[in-house]
Amino acid sequence: MGPGAGRAALISNRKVFNLFGEKVLHALRSSGFDVSVWLMKDGEQHKSMRSLAQAITFFSKSGLERNDAVVALGGGVVGDLAGFAAATYLRGVAFIQVPTTLLAQIDASVGGKTGVNTGAGKNLVGAFHQPRLVLIDTDTLQTLPQRELTAGWCEAIKQGAAGDRKLFDRTVRLLERVGTHASSVQHAGGVRIDVAATIAAHCRFKAAIVAGDEREATDRTDRRSRKILNFGHTTAHALEAVTNYRRFRHGEAVGHGMIVAAEISKGLGMLKPGELELLRSAVRACGPLPPADDVEIDKLIRAMKGDKKSVGGQIRWVLLDAIGSARIVDGREVSTRALRRALRAGLQTP
Ligand code: NAD
Ligand code: GLY
Repeated sequence: MGPGAGRAALISNRKVFNLFGEKVLHALRSSGFDVSVWLMKDGEQHKSMRSLAQAITFFSKSGLERNDAVVALGGGVVGDLAGFAAATYLRGVAFIQVPTTLLAQIDASVGGKTGVNTGAGKNLVGAFHQPRLVLIDTDTLQTLPQRELTAGWCEAIKQGAAGDRKLFDRTVRLLERVGTHASSVQHAGGVRIDVAATIAAHCRFKAAIVAGDEREATDRTDRRSRKILNFGHTTAHALEAVTNYRRFRHGEAVGHGMIVAAEISKGLGMLKPGELELLRSAVRACGPLPPADDVEIDKLIRAMKGDKKSVGGQIRWVLLDAIGSARIVDGREVSTRALRRALRAGLQTP
């Protein structure tokens, strides 16, 4: 977005645009932008190369130039797709994130990871492209379905558990106050302010981690590396894959995955049992998760071995020394027996 910016290409989907589109259009137009709109289809399956091609055609037909900007209005699917289209069109134009899900507000909109899924894997093609601005209106959470809130809170617990004990405690305290119901997020007064302030604290946390390791350097294994944000994700990705991406929202799978990682940590003598119980009750406070105790453990282990985050064919576990303090551990240090035990114990309803 240069000094002469005149055009904004807005990407959203029908559901989100019907809720907030007019307001955003009004704001952009009254700031002097000439706005064009493209509504992509809703759903993870549309974070695809096909949608990317459609977005690029939309930019071209709108006459988008190097100085102009792309605006993403929606959840992580819209943000990842619009961000990647912005990263590649004319070798990169500015983009602005206006996230409307809890998960996108605390995580996906911050940090510049953009991309699409392909038949060969999720988020397999992408680019690091930082947004010029992340604009969050937490009132958008009022219309968010319950499961989406639960998924977002699980990712919030993840951020605290992996890297910031105070943030973890603050998030748990907030969850105890608001409960997880959508209606509580819209309470007037203090709770609403607390929700907004906690989301801002999560953005600051994530931005600080990203500032220190923007491109998730493969050789970094310290406790401030960007990899710690993948806490819970090894099991989550496997759970999602073996249930054909139909049973779990991603954050819900992360809820289960964090408990499995904590069970492994306890099994290796790293994490105290009391800390595991604290994490378990924090995940419970996020809301009910779809059951995972019927998923075949052998299938999960096979899926983990195919995870694209592995290095030299080895899984890299993000484990915990304590809540707020993660450690990256080579998969060879976790025996199959220990992994099975942790999966059996961790995949019970928390
Ligand atoms: P999503 O974008 O699919 O949104 C969930 C649903 O909520 C959709 O149906 C959406 O239309 C709807 N919705 C959005 N805002 C709403 C509102 N305010 N009220 C009512 N409905 C609303 O899902 P998500 O959980 O936001 O994002 C998941 C995606 O984010 C995945 O593709 C994941 O890979 C990606 N992600 C990216 C990063 C990153 O760093 N780039 C991090 C985490 C996740
Ligand atoms: N969501 C993990 C990351 O942005 O690195």
